[in-house]
Amino acid sequence: MRVSSRITAIAGAISMSLVGLAQATDLEVTHWWTSGGEAAAVKQFADAFNKGGDNWIDGAIAGSGGVARPVIISRILGGEPMGATQLNHGRQAEELVEAGLMLDLTELADKEGWRDFVRPSKLLDSCTVDGKIYCAPVNIHSWQWMWTSLDAFKKAGVDAPKDWYEFVKAAPKLREAGIIPLAIGGQAWQSGGMFGVMTVGIGGADLWKAVNVEKNMDVVRGPEFAKVWQAFSEARDLADPNNSIQNWNDATNQVITAKAGAQIMGDWAQGEFSVAGQTAGVEYDCLPGLGIAPVLDTAGDAFYFPKNDDPDVTAAQLRMASMMLSKEVQVAFNLKKGSLPVRADVDITAANGCMKKGLEILKNADNILPSGDQTFNSDTIGQLEDLSTEFWSDKSITPEEAQSRYAEIIESAQ
Ligand code: GAL
Repeated sequence: MRVSSRITAIAGAISMSLVGLAQATDLEVTHWWTSGGEAAAVKQFADAFNKGGDNWIDGAIAGSGGVARPVIISRILGGEPMGATQLNHGRQAEELVEAGLMLDLTELADKEGWRDFVRPSKLLDSCTVDGKIYCAPVNIHSWQWMWTSLDAFKKAGVDAPKDWYEFVKAAPKLREAGIIPLAIGGQAWQSGGMFGVMTVGIGGADLWKAVNVEKNMDVVRGPEFAKVWQAFSEARDLADPNNSIQNWNDATNQVITAKAGAQIMGDWAQGEFSVAGQTAGVEYDCLPGLGIAPVLDTAGDAFYFPKNDDPDVTAAQLRMASMMLSKEVQVAFNLKKGSLPVRADVDITAANGCMKKGLEILKNADNILPSGDQTFNSDTIGQLEDLSTEFWSDKSITPEEAQSRYAEIIESAQ
């Protein structure tokens, strides 16, 4: 090859790589996934985005959704938006969308056929305002799970429970063995979420809907809901009276290390068991619907993209949304996250025993409930969580008083 053509070839290669670099766009991504399992999952997104030639600038916010969401929302409202952010399925971004601050993804969604493959379709409904789609749903998490340490029950010399009622019966044996029956973190969303799971498990899905969807005040003030409050009061006595744990994953770790017998928590807890190298059915078990009835709710996460004047940023935001819903990334991310993929057309045979229980339940639409985040706005959710956590930490509050205060919140819920 003559020298001049070799120089031309090298110059061409350099310019190609520079063009490639020029397209590499940094996107700051905010989320509250900071536990071991969550970090392993978010790495799947980051690696895939970087592999596509862009740069994932991680903006993890430690604490919980309750800490992260106000930071995220005030940055967007305050004109310092991130490139992309996690929020939950539901109504958390409705004011931001209504203020015209969020990127409309409808053209991408239509081009890629999101409405055809996202299931259940109500996940996209939670992203849709006035017929336009403003978020990419990335998983289905369900609060409706109870996690048990098989090692703890073995140590206590009692059969591992197959449902909530057997757990309550076994609790004295756990205590005799020096094991905390029920693990829970002190943040309000945890006792609030647990109360919702007990409403479904003890009261039934129809009762949950009557309270949280129909807001039927006869039911909210009635005897069936009183039974749920009574059971929640019993659960309160099963926690460690000197509990200093705040974070959900530290409570999960008590189950992983058999210091506690069980935890009621969403299936994001899966990620912690797998990072700890534990196997469903060997060291731990998972009871959907508290083992009483098969049920899932469609909690979980979606990514939103604040509007940006820079067309390169907007292009990168669309590349990220597309990546998150791609078949390959949906499998890689959800297997680490312990959640279910939002698309049915993926091969999830690698799912563990608990995920397989969830996928089975997901097949019957009658088993699926909306999440609280999808029925009430953030303000109402906050009030309900505050009441649940106040009841949990103050044993002078009776179930009757709590039910009456809960009814007042539901009556004025938006
Ligand atoms: C939820 C979120 C899950 C999980 C959990 C605990 O709001 O949907 O992905 O991470 O918080 O942080």
